[in-house]
Amino acid sequence: MSFYKQTIRDVPLDGKTVLVRADYNVPLDEDNHISDDLRIRASLPTLEYLIKRGCKIVIISHLGRPEGRDAALSLQQVSERLAVLLGRNVDFIDQTIGDKVRQLVKRAPSSSIILLENLRYYAEEEANNTDFAKQIAEDSGARYFIQDGFGVVHRAHASTDAITAYLPSVAGLLLETEYTRITEAMERPKRPLIAVMGGAKVSDKIGIIERFVEVADTIIIGGAMANTFLAYKGFSLGASKLETDQNDTIKAIYAAAEKKVGHKVDEFIVLPTDVAVSTSISHLSRRKNVPINDVDNDEIALDIGDATIETMTKLIADAGTVVWNGTLGYAELSEFAHGSARLSLSLAVQSATTSIIGGGDTADFVLKWDAQEGRSFTHVSTGGGASLELMAGKKLPGIECLLDVRK
Ligand code: ADP
Ligand code: 3PG
Ligand code: MG
Repeated sequence: MSFYKQTIRDVPLDGKTVLVRADYNVPLDEDNHISDDLRIRASLPTLEYLIKRGCKIVIISHLGRPEGRDAALSLQQVSERLAVLLGRNVDFIDQTIGDKVRQLVKRAPSSSIILLENLRYYAEEEANNTDFAKQIAEDSGARYFIQDGFGVVHRAHASTDAITAYLPSVAGLLLETEYTRITEAMERPKRPLIAVMGGAKVSDKIGIIERFVEVADTIIIGGAMANTFLAYKGFSLGASKLETDQNDTIKAIYAAAEKKVGHKVDEFIVLPTDVAVSTSISHLSRRKNVPINDVDNDEIALDIGDATIETMTKLIADAGTVVWNGTLGYAELSEFAHGSARLSLSLAVQSATTSIIGGGDTADFVLKWDAQEGRSFTHVSTGGGASLELMAGKKLPGIECLLDVRK
């Protein structure tokens, strides 16, 4: 599957100043230190490509959702981590636009790497303000804009949309890889394609469930999402997290599924037959396995049960492709991470199965689980919302505005 936008390989960048939009919106721990650097590591191929071509590289990104300047969300520590990962000096400028940026970038030697301060210190960023975008483009002195922040291309912001009016704009290598891997799995998968869905809410993921009904051969549902499906089917889920206002949505999903597979709908949409419950959610909570028709009023379903894990593992064993979004239980507590961990293991050892993992919490989970920093899987997406929207088949504004491939 080829990408329909021009990339850094299509334009003459040698020796030029380039403006790279990265998504360095990395998770931070309680002390505001970087807790996972996947998004920084994932930006290295593009940066290394540009370094080889003698470019002066000016990088922009956001971090968090600050309201104005917020020292805890400065990109300074990202510049330090990037320097370590690249093995090169990275200059940090504590402004995003203005004289200081203009002068320091101009004075920087030809192959410098410069990271500018958090775009979201300026309200104009999220407002997709054209003057702000124009000023970033001008002050950076760049000849090309390179969009490599896959995680943010579902937003139409100044640095993802408006900016492309002021510089010829192409994709970086991460954006190209993310787009190609995810789109290929959805449109031309090695079959059978098994979709595994979980996580918190049906309502967050209607678009992607509908798309899976169209393209997948089997859909396995776990997590709190499964509770909502089971409640729709008439099971009593005690004190479990579920949504009570999704019956029309689920009805429509079943109608579409029946149209596709007829009476085999319960083999197509596979729900848990048992769940792991507890009466509390804490580090002291212990799992108890119960069939889905035997959940007491004070019990909370926090993971798929052991029999369901077995069923899932057998189904996965024959998959050509597995696309997974949403943890299968309350995986923040290891007691309720069994389903997600077992699925991770299957995907990690089944080297013939293409495994695509999307969603912020799901990616966080597999990265913590995997001793190979995610390399045990075919692709762990750096995009949360962006990967979900792409899987759902939506057009992403930050991709649409890039230059089309020349015919
Ligand atoms: P992603 O970010 O990967 O798209 P979601 O945000 O939809 O995934 O879901 C992850 C969240 O769902 C986690 O915080 C997890 O604790 C929660 N979750 C999953 N299963 C359950 C459950 N059975 N009960 C309560 N919360 C659950
Ligand atoms: C993300 O983490 O999903 C992206 O960086 C976008 O961030 P946002 O949800 O704050 O727009
Ligand atoms: Mg999430």
